[in-house]
Amino acid sequence: MAKLLEKIVWALSLALTASIIAYTWYITAPAERITITNMPILLDGRIFLPLPQKVSELTVEETILLRRSIREYTSEPVNLSDLAMILWAAYGITEPRLGFRAAPSAGATYPLEIYIVVGERGVKYSEGFLDEGVYKYEPHSHTLLLVKRGDYRRALMNAASGQSWVGEAPLNIVICAVFERTTRVYGERGRVRYVPMEAGHVGQNIYLMATALKYGAVVIGAFNDDQVAKTIGSKLEEEPLYIIPIGVPRRQPKTSFEDIWEYIESRR
Ligand SMILES: Cc1cc2nc3c(=O)[nH]c(=O)nc-3n(C[C@H](O)[C@H](O)[C@H](O)COP(=O)(O)O)c2cc1C
Repeated sequence: MAKLLEKIVWALSLALTASIIAYTWYITAPAERITITNMPILLDGRIFLPLPQKVSELTVEETILLRRSIREYTSEPVNLSDLAMILWAAYGITEPRLGFRAAPSAGATYPLEIYIVVGERGVKYSEGFLDEGVYKYEPHSHTLLLVKRGDYRRALMNAASGQSWVGEAPLNIVICAVFERTTRVYGERGRVRYVPMEAGHVGQNIYLMATALKYGAVVIGAFNDDQVAKTIGSKLEEEPLYIIPIGVPRRQPKTSFEDIWEYIESRR
C-alpha cells in the first residue's frame, strides 16, 4: 500500500513538473513566424513592417519641388520597405512618450484610419510578394493587418468613376475617418474643418515620402463613398476621404530651381 502511494506521489510530481515547464515555455516563447502562401505573417495575421529610418537622399525643398500628381505607372512593384516608410510618413509614430504622429491632429484625437489595397505582385519584399488583398495600417506597432484577400483594384477603380490610375497602380492607399473621435471634442467644426484638414496633411506626407523615394502618387477625391467602403471592407463608422494610387512613374517629373527662378523673374 505504501509503495503504491509512493508511486502515485511520484507520478503526480512528474506531471506537475512537466506542466510547469510547458507553461513557462508557452508564456516566454517568442511569437512563432509561419509562412502562409509565401508571405511572412504572424499567427494572428499581422505583418511586421521594416522599422522607420533615414532613407532618402533628397532634401525637403527638392522633394517639394519634384512632387507632382502622377497618374501613369510602370508595371514595377513597390518595395515593402518603401511602403513602410510611406505609411510611417502618413500617420506613423514620431513621439513615443505621447504617441503623437507624423501628421498634426486637432486635440491629438487621431480620427483617421489607413487602408491599403495591394494588387497582384504589387508589393515586393526579399522573399517574394505580399499577397494581393486589403490591409489596415496599425501605427503603434507599425504593422499591417490583413482585412481580406484578393485583388480589389478594379472594384476600387469602378468606385472612383473608372479612373484608370486606380486600377493600374500596384497599390492604393485609402484614408478613412472616424469623425466621432474629433466631433465629440469639437462638434460640427471637427466634421467640416478639422478632420478634412488632417486628411490633407496625411495626403501631403504621403505625396512627399513617395516622391522622395522616386514613386509617383495622386490624391483622388472623386469616388462613391459607399462603394469604396464596401470594397475595402472598412467598418461602418470609417468613412473614406481619399484614395491615393502609388507606383513607379512612367516618367520622372523634371524641374529645377533654375526653371522656377526663370518663371518668377519673368513675372516681376
Ligand atoms: C481634394 C483633391 C481632390 C482631387 N481629386 C482628384 C481626382 O479625383 N482625380 C485625379 O486624378 N486627381 C485629383 N486631384 C489631384 C489634382 O488634379 C492635382 O493636384 C492638380 O491637378 C495639380 O497637380 P499637382 O498635384 O501635380 O500639383 C485632387 C486633388 C485634391 C487636392
